[in-house]
Amino acid sequence: MGAMHNLFTLLTLLSLITSVTHACFLTAKWNLYVISNIEDDIVVHIKSGDDDLGNHTIPFNGNYNWSFCDRIDGHTLFYGYFWWGSKFTSLALFDNELRGPCALSKESGQHCYWLVRPDGFYVSAYNRTFDDNYYYWTLKKHWD
Ligand SMILES: *[C@@H]1O[C@H](CO)[C@@H](O)[C@H](O)[C@H]1NC(C)=O
Ligand SMILES: *[C@@H]1O[C@H](CO)[C@@H](O)[C@H](O)[C@H]1NC(C)=O
Ligand SMILES: *[C@@H]1O[C@H](CO)[C@@H](O)[C@H](O)[C@H]1NC(C)=O
Repeated sequence: MGAMHNLFTLLTLLSLITSVTHACFLTAKWNLYVISNIEDDIVVHIKSGDDDLGNHTIPFNGNYNWSFCDRIDGHTLFYGYFWWGSKFTSLALFDNELRGPCALSKESGQHCYWLVRPDGFYVSAYNRTFDDNYYYWTLKKHWD
């Protein structure tokens, strides 16, 4: 009873410390960036099972970024709904499959970059310009 109580107090304290320091409790922290290379404002609505990040307008070469802690059960999912003029497309911005192409830099934390271009949506673990470094980018989906 006493030992359980102490363990509970310790866990509560640890999760409090990690939330104050913006670290994650037991899981990895992910930083996601959605960069637009479209010479027009686009709108993205980002949602997960637990969070609705709402609508965001991204200007040409601007970005929207957010970070989150991986779920303990590993089933983190973020979906993005994109509008560009009359075009609309939705795709997963983070899920178990995307963990692979994004998970590289353990030291500096996990970063996942999305590049929205007129021909579609590219992902990379690195923030590189497209024209000279297209091989860093993987095309995941075309605009519908
Ligand atoms: C988000 O933006 C889209 C496109 O402009 C719009 O159709 C939709 O109603 C907006 N949703 C909210 C919750 O504002
Ligand atoms: C992330 O977004 C914030 C605004 O929400 C912005 O101030 C910041 O510069 C962005 N980070 C990067 C690396 O662009
Ligand atoms: C990506 O890198 C460029 C410089 O090459 C920088 O201007 C931009 O802010 C970076 N964007 C993000 C989201 O880190």
